[in-house]
Amino acid sequence: MSNQKELLWQSRFSQPFDREALKFSSSVHVDGLLYREDIQGSIAHATMLAEEGIISGEEAGQIVEGLRAVEQELESGALVPVWEDEDIHTVIENRLKELIGPAAGKLHSGRSRNDQVATDTRLYLRRNIDCLTGLIAGMQSTLLDKAERYSRTIMFGYTHLQRAQPMSAGHYYMAWHSMFGRDASRLSDLRKRANVSPLGAAAFAGSTLPLNTARSAELLGFEGVFSNSIDAVSDRDLVIEFISACATVMMHLSRFSEDVILWSSAEFNYLGISDAFATGSSIMPQKKNADIAELVRGKTGRVYGNLMNILTIMKGLPLSYNRDMQEDKPPLFDTAETTAQSLSIFRRMLENTWLNEERLARLTADDLSLATEIAEYLVRKQIPFRDAHRITGKIVAYAIEQDKSLPSIGLDEYRTFSEAFDEGIYDDLKPDASVNSKKTSGSCSFRSVEEQIARARASKK
Ligand code: ARG
Repeated sequence: MSNQKELLWQSRFSQPFDREALKFSSSVHVDGLLYREDIQGSIAHATMLAEEGIISGEEAGQIVEGLRAVEQELESGALVPVWEDEDIHTVIENRLKELIGPAAGKLHSGRSRNDQVATDTRLYLRRNIDCLTGLIAGMQSTLLDKAERYSRTIMFGYTHLQRAQPMSAGHYYMAWHSMFGRDASRLSDLRKRANVSPLGAAAFAGSTLPLNTARSAELLGFEGVFSNSIDAVSDRDLVIEFISACATVMMHLSRFSEDVILWSSAEFNYLGISDAFATGSSIMPQKKNADIAELVRGKTGRVYGNLMNILTIMKGLPLSYNRDMQEDKPPLFDTAETTAQSLSIFRRMLENTWLNEERLARLTADDLSLATEIAEYLVRKQIPFRDAHRITGKIVAYAIEQDKSLPSIGLDEYRTFSEAFDEGIYDDLKPDASVNSKKTSGSCSFRSVEEQIARARASKK
């Protein structure tokens, strides 16, 4: 034999595993991140084994104490995993053997690395779902503050990136609040499916040992136990669901980033970003760039790529476990980290932005975006909407041609387009009147925005 360490499965082989093949198949550099979950799962398994009389209480005590010591060593860096150990499960088991001797060999009774890694993954998902849900709640609280601060600020709402109608700026922030709310609900929905224990499925067939799967599940805080042992070891739906939910979070953040980038440009100049969250140029001294938003937008591509990655890994796999599935971890870990970092930094950047209220007031005061008010004014005068729309279109064309704003067109001029116009039209041609005349619930009026904020705050209590 070479000086290579013995692998967990070596005994039936007459030659050591080729070094390059081992390096190629080792996942230590990636799944090292799962050491806490792995130890947590092993402690629960050993505890259950002792309770069921499969190993002695003394052996379980040694195993649990030994595992805690290994955790400490990994935490402090005293134990540095090496790729020769194949995966983190082997790293931990080998070190346990060095620390406590033969009892370590009993830990794996009734367990395979297949149900072990599935358990670790679910514990990881649960922890990261909770972390992301917390970050999303933080983002929503910042959005509520923004919405409140700007509930009476008027700005343009856009469709097709063209000025459409004036609205409360708070309404804009509350739109993001709704989107992130759905993201949180997607995550908490998949958390229920993640919170099921695969322990006891062993390789895929279950075990001849009298394992108490409900007990190990309970010890790990899982709400249920697998119902089919093949599915328990071969299911990676949750990884897909998680990455998909994160891809949607990133899509939201990316769209939000796009607005930040546009609005902070000189052309829009709606949004200021504090110097602490902007960057400069190495050649153009005047530049101030929204790089944080651009990076969040850019990182979205990684998470989408991760989703394609895991879907492609899974698409042709025969049941049950296949080694391909080890490749689920790079996209999973990268997604959790990228999404968490993006949510965190974007929120902090958002807190360091402000709306240029004076400019928004100036721009919205006499803009053509009040044209819908004219059409709806005519509808209230019993003119069918299609006719009202046509008449208003002609007025807009006239305003452009005459280079006039809608409020500066005289009543006699309005009356050449329709007899229905009277002095009342000028009351409607004010942005705040426009915004506040919206009657439908969930609309862009100050009152509606204040109601949205109040409802969101109440639901948090
Ligand atoms: N490192 C492996 C993984 O992440 C652990 C399971 C190994 N199982 C096996 N039958 N080779 O999937």
